[in-house]
Amino acid sequence: MADETNGTAVGATQAKPKMGKWLLLVGAVIMLSGLLFGYDQGVIAGALDGIQKTFGASTTMIQIITSWVTLGALVGALVAGSLADKIGRRLTILLAAILFVIGALCESLAPGTTILVIGRLIVGFGVGVASVAAPLYAAEQAPTRLRGRFVSIYQLAITMGIFVAYLVNQALISKDTWRVMLGISAVPAVLLFLVMLPMPDSPRWFLKVGRKDDAIKALSKVRPDVDATAEINEIEEASREEDESPATWGEVFSKKLRKPLMVGIGLAVFQQITGINAIIYYANKIFAQAGFETPQGQAAATTWAIGAVNVLATLIAVVYVDRFGRRPLLLAGLVGMTLSLTTVGVTFHFMDKADTSGAGAGGPTTAGLITLVALVVFIASFAFSLGPVVWTVINEIFPNRVRGRAVAVATAFNWGSAWLVSQFFLTLIDSIGNSATFYLFAFFSVLAYIWIWRRVPETKGRTFEEIQKIWEDDNPVQSQRDAGTL
Ligand code: BGC
Repeated sequence: MADETNGTAVGATQAKPKMGKWLLLVGAVIMLSGLLFGYDQGVIAGALDGIQKTFGASTTMIQIITSWVTLGALVGALVAGSLADKIGRRLTILLAAILFVIGALCESLAPGTTILVIGRLIVGFGVGVASVAAPLYAAEQAPTRLRGRFVSIYQLAITMGIFVAYLVNQALISKDTWRVMLGISAVPAVLLFLVMLPMPDSPRWFLKVGRKDDAIKALSKVRPDVDATAEINEIEEASREEDESPATWGEVFSKKLRKPLMVGIGLAVFQQITGINAIIYYANKIFAQAGFETPQGQAAATTWAIGAVNVLATLIAVVYVDRFGRRPLLLAGLVGMTLSLTTVGVTFHFMDKADTSGAGAGGPTTAGLITLVALVVFIASFAFSLGPVVWTVINEIFPNRVRGRAVAVATAFNWGSAWLVSQFFLTLIDSIGNSATFYLFAFFSVLAYIWIWRRVPETKGRTFEEIQKIWEDDNPVQSQRDAGTL
């Protein structure tokens, strides 16, 4: 999605772009989509207890209610690429907004768990569609110089959405109002619909479907400071030189693309199996086990230690990702994640022991506070590394023609792994215990470190064409090391 598809063609407008009204609205679209994504992921942490009380739901049902959003998102992400090509980016985003509203209403009015789960699936589908279509739309509308920032705003908005959800959870926690918590996401969804409605589709999509006049109109509306006709001609010229025949799925999985595809899928999977969403979703429960006894205490810990830290550390990444490079951020983040996950494992080991001997009652214990600090370190380490950098890399390693499909595959792997973790986290805790579960996440972080060290080349500061050259080497990382560029 973030892309050079327009990168080749906007040389005429390299002057400092003006942030006009319509361009700000493009920013609002990406912001609202990210907020919705994050809100829907974060809100469930505070709603679970109320849902459990209302429906007397079992652990399995609670895990389904939590995690099926990601199943819906997996399917949504897979269909979004071709949908956005067929009906356009604008209609696809409008559709996602409508799905959000319908899903949120199903959730909040659900008479039983079946409708609730259906609502979660619909919301998830909307999240998945938006997670592909909104960054794609923003990348295509943004001037080249601002494109990176437009796309990284998305990750920032996700973390802000999670934070807002935690604040809502905290405000409503004592009132057992899970229906309101889930229903509230209809508000930003309606806003997204209203902002998107008067917007034109992206000029690039109009060109793709042969509507050149509309492309020129759309471009002059969103960016009145550029010579729209000249720029559209330039884009047209550049794309004429590319092979425009549609990519096939066979091509995505061909031997030629194996290396970047493995890097994309590997990063997507490691981002999830190192435990981020277990913590985002089940933070209140983890803090409860760590000795935070009241729901208010748990919610406060979740809001500030997880939610706020996540936003702040993501800001760091947005600023530094192009300065430090992808590999140093990823590797440094994984060191922090491994150490903090191991610490949580160790403290749970002692807390579990204390519990069986009858001690540990009455507010957060020392071990509980250490868990809190360790989780802060974990979230911060994730947020400046795997959180944003994985998405950056996934979007820059594939050649133009197959990017849409290849990104959809990597995104689907990401949602699939997120689903596995959130579906089985509580089961894991029940069967192997708290400590072992966190040691397992720590073990995956070590594996991720070794694999990234050996397999993920540095892409910072390289043009898309240079990145494609990287894959011609048998061992791209070794070649970069030999060339002294690592
Ligand atoms: C991940 C999400 C996660 C979020 C947390 C994103 O990069 O893809 O699964 O919930 O970061 O901030």
